[in-house]
Amino acid sequence: MTPVLKRTLAYFLPYWWLMLLSALCSLVVGAMDGAFAYLVEPVLKKIFAGKDEGIFLLVPIGIIVLFAVRGICRYIYDASIKLAGQKAIQDIRNDLYGSTIGQDMAFFQRKATGDLMSCMTNDITTMQEGMSQVVTGLFRDLISFAALLGVIFYRNWQLAIITFIVIPLTAYPAQLIGKKIKNSARRSLDVMGGIGVTLQESFSGIKVIKAFGLEQQSIQRFRHQNSNYLQQLKRYIKYSSLATPISEMITSLGIASVVYIGGSQVISGRMSASEFFSFIAAMIMLYTPLKKLQSSYNIVQRSAGAAERVFSLLDEKPSITNSSNAADIQRSNGSVEFRDVSFGYDDELILRNISLRAASGQMIALVGPSGGGKTTLIALLMRLYDVKQGQILLDGRDIRDITLESLNRQFALVDQETTLFNDTIANNIRYGKPDATQDEVQTTAKAAFAHDFIQQLPEGYETNIGDRGVRLSGGQRQRICIARALLKNAPILILDEATSALDTESEQMVQKALDNLMANRTTFVIAHRLSTVLHADTILVLEAGRIVESGSHDELIENSRLYSRLHALQFSDKESTEMPALP
Ligand SMILES: Nc1ncnc2c1ncn2[C@@H]1O[C@H](COP(=O)(O)OP(=O)(O)OP(=O)(O)O)[C@@H](O)[C@H]1O
Ligand SMILES: [Mg+2]
Repeated sequence: MTPVLKRTLAYFLPYWWLMLLSALCSLVVGAMDGAFAYLVEPVLKKIFAGKDEGIFLLVPIGIIVLFAVRGICRYIYDASIKLAGQKAIQDIRNDLYGSTIGQDMAFFQRKATGDLMSCMTNDITTMQEGMSQVVTGLFRDLISFAALLGVIFYRNWQLAIITFIVIPLTAYPAQLIGKKIKNSARRSLDVMGGIGVTLQESFSGIKVIKAFGLEQQSIQRFRHQNSNYLQQLKRYIKYSSLATPISEMITSLGIASVVYIGGSQVISGRMSASEFFSFIAAMIMLYTPLKKLQSSYNIVQRSAGAAERVFSLLDEKPSITNSSNAADIQRSNGSVEFRDVSFGYDDELILRNISLRAASGQMIALVGPSGGGKTTLIALLMRLYDVKQGQILLDGRDIRDITLESLNRQFALVDQETTLFNDTIANNIRYGKPDATQDEVQTTAKAAFAHDFIQQLPEGYETNIGDRGVRLSGGQRQRICIARALLKNAPILILDEATSALDTESEQMVQKALDNLMANRTTFVIAHRLSTVLHADTILVLEAGRIVESGSHDELIENSRLYSRLHALQFSDKESTEMPALP
């Protein structure tokens, strides 16, 4: 048994009782198939040779009873094995989702969303088809096969051996075909993953597609991938359709030999005609489970192709995990220190020798040219990535010695992306604190200056805002994100371009909301608009991965190169200079 199959079957183990029930019932079905073939001989003999009318009447009743019992058993075995299969698949899907969500950021940058989605849906479905097939078919077919084998050996062992000889002959082509099927399944699912990527990207980027008139181009790309998928499927179709005719042709050799040899035995009087028919019946019935075994083998191969993809995803190990001595911390004071930190997403260093301190309750601003590494620095603080060199300390403790769960509780983030989920407004705010009451939600929404516009929506807080919050304006979305961060009430607040997308009026409103949020917290603010950071305790200017200047606004205006230049640029026109510095 291959490791993939073993691993899949391990998922069935918890449902052994369903499988046992199924096995027992399939035992009855199989035994009945055997009994049926066996009884052909005595019944035929009694009725036609003995002209026994009593038995003749019993036969139809016997047939009905036999099939009724068989039907009930079949139902139970079928339903229970399918249930076991679905339960096992459900566990696999849950495991896969759990392990995928637990991956670090680097993983999600490596993998395309659409491909992951395709794996969670298509691959698992393909895997499930095969797995329920194998456990369903395997029991029944193996048992019928054994019962029928018993009958043919009992009837006539020489003929049985002939029947049996051809069976191993079918094994080799079956194996060859199975391998081809597995590979083509894997490849077709790879292509399906690509289709998933296209779908995901085109639906989430539909605005750009429309705005740039890229519909035809998207259609072409999709068609190309879709036909590529069919190409892969064609291989699968070819091999899976080839399997049955080949095995039938080989087994026909057996049938032909049996008919010839058995027939001559009947003619020469060494075997009775009824015995011969019973044998033929058993033999023909014998090939049916054999064929089925073979086609389940092919389906299993196909699902093994899918399972390989699923397990390889399941085996991805996140590089950011809790260390063995990681401590669960309570609410931190919010004092942060970077000690000579260097980092790069790959070999190239993006941040070099960063050292900084933020005392509890301070506001630290990060400014500087685009691509300087500001967002990256924040990602390191939240331990979305691990530093290459140096240390990041929270309350004097290396963040790698803090459990990820408790570290996460220390940060509230509002970033430029304003991610909202397909849920009600109230629930989107509640992501900050899942057990928050309606009152708490409303209070924070008020503090975030979001309450008024929420109330004007048709269903108020219960309005479903749809995928990515498409039914709201940028400023409204941002205020909901701020409410969410406010509700989380974490000791460290991170604002990455949190007001960049707003007009002056909403920015002022949002800024007031943010000021509410900043009180009594350590805050890291990233901003291109210097007006929002003038009153920071420390302003750090990041350029090309280094802190090139640092100090308060006044200090930097006095004696800095980059900051004073940026400031002069932004406040050069009259209107801007008159813009009041924030309180
Ligand atoms: N996931 C990533 N993988 C590889 N390189 C990245 C990744 N994210 C950012 N970079 C690179 O790291 C550098 C710093 O990026 P970062 O996003 O930290 O800049 P930033 O200062 O936040 O810029 P902006 O002001 O435009 O937001 C850039 O050169 C960018 O190309
Ligand atoms: Mg950035």
